[in-house]
Amino acid sequence: MNSAQLRRVTVESFAHYRPGLVELLLDAVADGASIGFLNDVDAAAATEYFNTVHAEVRQGSRLLWVVVKDEHVVASAQLGLCQKPNGLNRAEVQKLLVRTDARRHGLGAQLMGALESEALYLGRGLLYLDTETGSAAEPFYEGLGYQRAGQIPDYACSPSGVYRPTSLYYKILQGPRA
Ligand SMILES: CC(C)(COP(=O)(O)OP(=O)(O)OC[C@H]1O[C@@H](n2cnc3c(N)ncnc32)[C@H](O)[C@@H]1OP(=O)(O)O)[C@@H](O)C(=O)NCCC(=O)NCCS
Repeated sequence: MNSAQLRRVTVESFAHYRPGLVELLLDAVADGASIGFLNDVDAAAATEYFNTVHAEVRQGSRLLWVVVKDEHVVASAQLGLCQKPNGLNRAEVQKLLVRTDARRHGLGAQLMGALESEALYLGRGLLYLDTETGSAAEPFYEGLGYQRAGQIPDYACSPSGVYRPTSLYYKILQGPRA
């Protein structure tokens, strides 16, 4: 997509991107994405959620990226860094969202490339995630080399309130450091 820029969101720049992140989340839920919210989510609830994300970015337990076009957020992704002393080699890919009118232009893959590079740099060589079974995200992640580890039935509601299974995926970028 022309002139799209990928940026890491810092504690300082968070407030600048928050309204766009809220819009992106509402767009994804309205489109049926199973990302932790139901159809009744509104801007206030989404803002509250991003305030918790901001706190985790501040603590260093979460990394956040956006793609902006003409200063509008068109895509985003998060990496949750496991804080347990026995899991410092792993990180969870979360809330990868591409605005509905910006899909299939490579932005999701671009975000995953940035996220994987940073994970490797931080020694987080094991990435994992869950995503709704049967969603577009399955062929997306499989195309990027993620291995399907299994499926859990009735894991989470779709925004319309119907329980759906989730698929678990992982990718080993690098084995644990000695
Ligand atoms: C999944 C998602 C992030 C993909 O983002 P995207 O920017 O459209 O993906 P890309 O353009 O980088 O696609 C890369 C490849 O993934 C595959 N892919 C992406 N979307 C696909 C779809 N709807 N159906 C089949 N394959 C798809 C294709 O192989 C594609 O390459 P191609 O376009 O050259 O054929 C996007 O559809 C989305 O935001 N979905 C809603 C939220 C969600 O489910 N997030 C993931 C779970 S947390």
